Amino acid sequence: MTTVLEFDLNNGVRIPVIGLGVFQTPPAETTAAVETALKVGYRHIDTAAAYLNEREVGEGIRRSGLPREAIFVETKIWVTDYGSKQTLHGFEKAIAKLGLEQLDLLILHQPAVGAFDRTIAAYKALEKLYADGRVRAIGVSNFTPTWLPRLLDEIEVIPAVNQIELHPYYVQKASQAANAAHGILTQAWSPIGGITSYGGSGGPGKSTLTDPTLRELAAAHGKSPAQLMLRWHIQQGRQVIPKSTNPARIAENFDIFDFELSRDELARIDALDTGKRGGPDQDVPQPQFFDFQIPEA
Ligand code: A2P
Repeated sequence: MTTVLEFDLNNGVRIPVIGLGVFQTPPAETTAAVETALKVGYRHIDTAAAYLNEREVGEGIRRSGLPREAIFVETKIWVTDYGSKQTLHGFEKAIAKLGLEQLDLLILHQPAVGAFDRTIAAYKALEKLYADGRVRAIGVSNFTPTWLPRLLDEIEVIPAVNQIELHPYYVQKASQAANAAHGILTQAWSPIGGITSYGGSGGPGKSTLTDPTLRELAAAHGKSPAQLMLRWHIQQGRQVIPKSTNPARIAENFDIFDFELSRDELARIDALDTGKRGGPDQDVPQPQFFDFQIPEA
C-alpha cells in the first residue's frame, strides 16, 4: 500500500496531495467548510480572488486553531488584476482578506488571451513576490500547451503548478505531458468531474459521479465513485482539490488512503476520456473575464 501524503514541488516546497476546493462555495458556507476540512485532516485550501470567499477561508483557518505553518494556502490572481503593479496590489488584497502575511502558493487564474503581455507582467510580479519571500511558490492555472511555452519563453521561475480541468471525462494528456516535461505539478480542478453534472460551458451532461464503469470499479473496493476518482489522480501523481460544502462528503473525499488501484483499473478510468472540456476554451479570448473586478480588501 503506497500512501503518499505530499508531493514535492519543483522548488522543494511540499504540498499535500489533496486540498479542499472552494469554487462556488458561497461565502456564508465557506468558513464552516474550511473548519470541517481542517478537522478531518485536510491541510490545504485552494481559493481564488474571483471566488469572493478569501475572507471566509481566512476565518476558517483561524477558527481551526491550527498553527499557520500547518496549513498550505493557495489563491489565484484574477485577470483584471494582471499587470506589474496591479498584480502586486492583487496580492495585497488577497493577504488582507485572508488575514495572512505569506501565501504558500499564488497562481494566475488563467492566461489573458488577447492581452498576453499583461499575463507576462502578472507572472513577473509573482516572481518578485517569490523573490521577496511573500509567497513560498508560484504557478499558473488553465495554461494549455498553446500558452505554457509562450509563458516559459519570457520568464525565469518555472511555475510550480499548473491547475487544469481534469477528471475521467477530460484527461488532457497533452497538457499533463507538457507540465511533466517542465517539472510542473498538475493540479486537477473539478477532480471528481463536478463540472460534468453542474454544467460548464456545455451545460449539464452525463455525470462522472453516476458513470457505470466508475461505479463498478468503486464498488469493488467498497468506495464511492468520488473516492475512486481522487485515488486515480493521486496514484498518477496529480494533486486534487475536490469541492464540497457537505461535512459528510468533505470527510468522504479525504478517506482515500486505505486502498490502491491496479494498473488495469487506472487504465480503465483513463479510457473514459471524451476529450470534451466543461470549462471555457482558454485558447480563444474570453472578453467577459475582463468585466469582473476584484473588490478591495
Ligand atoms: P456538494 O458541495 O454539495 O458536496 P468538483 O470539485 O469535481 O467540481 O465537484 C464538486 C461537486 O461535486 C459539487 O457539486 C459537490 O457538491 C459535489 N461533491 C463533492 N464531493 C462529492 C462526493 N463525495 N459525492 C458526490 N458529490 C460530491
